[in-house]
Amino acid sequence: MLKTKDILDEKDKRLRMISKKVEFPLTKKDKELISTMIKYLHDSQIDELSEKYDLRPGMGMSAIQLGVAKRYFVVVNEIDEGEFETYVLINPKIISNSVEKIYVEMGEGCLSVNRPVEGIVPRYARVTMEAYDMEGRKVHIRAREELAICFQHELDHLNGILFFDHIDKKNPFKGKDEYRAI
Ligand code: CO
Repeated sequence: MLKTKDILDEKDKRLRMISKKVEFPLTKKDKELISTMIKYLHDSQIDELSEKYDLRPGMGMSAIQLGVAKRYFVVVNEIDEGEFETYVLINPKIISNSVEKIYVEMGEGCLSVNRPVEGIVPRYARVTMEAYDMEGRKVHIRAREELAICFQHELDHLNGILFFDHIDKKNPFKGKDEYRAI
């Protein structure tokens, strides 16, 4: 079972690596890693389990956050109380995006960043992702709002980028009136 301490902290240089393209079929190891990532994200969003196992609530995780420099990530999105939708995106890319940009008003979070970070991280309000599923089939996924932000955040991880890299150093709230808060 994946533990919170297994997730790399922002100070770990591996988080700055550019992850490598995945070849199919997936290895047994990758399949197992994906399962443990899904379980962590799912359980972390259920209060009882997150307390019991000391999990940090999160909806997305990239392989590199566990030290595996391969281009895939997992998102477990709560669509209703206790009801989750799971996404596994392998070799993902954005093939189209909205002009409109949004940001998380409360500030974006990351399982690798264990401190509060203030500031605006501009993200596309809507994106269409192209990726491969676990069987190597090409898929297109359209996302908006929080889910779209999550996909962009995770895709950044595969390129060694952390969310606070997008925050303006001199004026962390730059763009407040330009972009829509969610
Ligand atoms: Co993150």
